Amino acid sequence: MQQLTDPFGRSIEYVRLSVTDRCDLRCFYCMPKGFNDFEAPEHWLSFDEIERVIAAFARLGTRRVRITGGEPLVRKDLPSLAARLYALPGIDDLSLSTNAVQLARHARALKAAGVQRLNVSLDTPDPRRFRDITGGKLEKVIDGLMAAKAAGFSPIKINMVVMKGVNDDDVEAMVEFCITHGFTLRFIETMPMGDTGRGANAHYLPLDIVRKRIEQRHDLVPGVMPGGGPARYMRVVGSDLRIGFITPMSQHFCATCNRVRLSVDGTLYLCLGQDHTFELRPLLRDGITDAALDEAIRQAIALKPERHEFNDKPGQVVRFMSMTGG
Ligand code: GTP
Ligand code: 5AD
Ligand code: SF4
Repeated sequence: MQQLTDPFGRSIEYVRLSVTDRCDLRCFYCMPKGFNDFEAPEHWLSFDEIERVIAAFARLGTRRVRITGGEPLVRKDLPSLAARLYALPGIDDLSLSTNAVQLARHARALKAAGVQRLNVSLDTPDPRRFRDITGGKLEKVIDGLMAAKAAGFSPIKINMVVMKGVNDDDVEAMVEFCITHGFTLRFIETMPMGDTGRGANAHYLPLDIVRKRIEQRHDLVPGVMPGGGPARYMRVVGSDLRIGFITPMSQHFCATCNRVRLSVDGTLYLCLGQDHTFELRPLLRDGITDAALDEAIRQAIALKPERHEFNDKPGQVVRFMSMTGG
């Protein structure tokens, strides 16, 4: 089996595939109100092109693919793409990160297509606050989550970006919500991307503060969860709840980074927090051979930087999170 190794000795085995930069919500920290500078449809990789790129990664040792956006369910016929990716030899972990607004309609088809693991963004259990943060309706997300559970997805992880003065007082209610429904809860530190970056990351809250608050009410012991991402897990004693902590700011995890991102226009982003990129679309549309595509991907991986510099240089990365799907 071939392996992709970057200049820092990290094995790259996880591709985050953004299938659209559009979204049906407008979370203020991700894609601000009024934003309209979306990729032109003629630049979107087709399903055939996406399949070619993921097949190449699979030949080079990638086994995990996570479908992201924008909001991935905005892309038409997504379950049929998922089925094509899952059928590729070597891909044995296919997952999706979604806001769940349209999940109720698609849950069963996604499950049938081979998607096992779902991560759902939800920052608050309060409908009014949900509308303030996202511009959307909480009810749809709850419907989507219940449909996902009924369709047999496991695990279902809830991603909560914890923001000081915005939703940090929702932490305990989210713990209860996830215990009740059997979801895994993950807290995420806000990263300075796009407008969030220009605002000097004003809502950033280090997660050790959140952990200490939870420990006033619950006992936490180390836990494990399936997945290939940066979360560190604790289990809440006396329940099945696992809580994941994703700490890109206070305790970054770049030394164990295992991933790259492919955006909808066929750009490989070598790091979430840096501008190092490699363009695959021109090569695909010029009729590149499989062997040359594999070689191009190797060249791209050689450009992967060591780490983000969100703390040292906030505001450095001007793209919005929605372009790479987190
Ligand atoms: P699994 O562990 O496989 O379930 O997935 P994941 O946690 O990697 O994926 P998800 O899309 O749910 O990401 C959760 C949060 O972690 C998002 O806020 C991402 O932006 C953040 N994140 C994921 N990967 C990275 C990374 O490589 N670097 C940084 N800085 N943040 C990341
Ligand atoms: N900082 C941290 N996480 C973010 N996400 C979106 N924008 C940011 C940000 N600025 C999260 C979403 C979603 C995941 C894919 O990325 O809430 O759960
Ligand atoms: Fe990897 Fe960059 Fe994320 Fe660090 S910030 S974990 S190097 S993608």
